[in-house]
Amino acid sequence: MSQNVMITGAGKASGLGFNLVLRYLEAGDNVVATIRKPCPELDDLKEKYGDRLTVLTMDISDTESVLNAAAELSDETDHLDLLINNAVSVSPDCDKGFFDADLDYIARTVDIAAVGAMRVI
Ligand SMILES: NC(=O)c1ccc[n+]([C@@H]2O[C@H](COP(=O)([O-])OP(=O)(O)OC[C@H]3O[C@@H](n4cnc5c(N)ncnc54)[C@H](OP(=O)(O)O)[C@@H]3O)[C@@H](O)[C@H]2O)c1
Repeated sequence: MSQNVMITGAGKASGLGFNLVLRYLEAGDNVVATIRKPCPELDDLKEKYGDRLTVLTMDISDTESVLNAAAELSDETDHLDLLINNAVSVSPDCDKGFFDADLDYIARTVDIAAVGAMRVI
């Protein structure tokens, strides 16, 4: 039976998110792919898979953006079977030594990686 699957951070054709979108579509599932900016490769998939692919704009660091995407999606479907919190953004400062890192960058990374996933849930 087909599932309703949402995958965040799917707007980069070389990234894991986009390729998960492709795999779930190939498996016959309905997929919600979230992006921050237009992705021509997702447009191509939309042409091929039609209603089985929904593309939503969502920035997981922005609560309003996530709520808007949720409202838009709730017009189309009443549930998700699977959520893949794939979107991530890692600051280069994460690789620096403790006393060299810019904590403001680290805070933003944690906001996206940890709080971002919670916003989406
Ligand atoms: N690559 C690896 O070696 C590796 C290893 C282990 C685990 N992983 C995990 O696999 C997942 C994907 O990795 P990847 O290498 O494919 O990452 P990636 O190429 O950097 O792609 C990350 C995606 O997240 C999106 N994103 C970043 N910040 C966002 C935000 N605030 N709101 C919404 N979307 C946002 C990006 O959007 P834009 O396209 O707009 O920038 C991008 O499409 C991550 O969860 C990562 O932790 C990766």
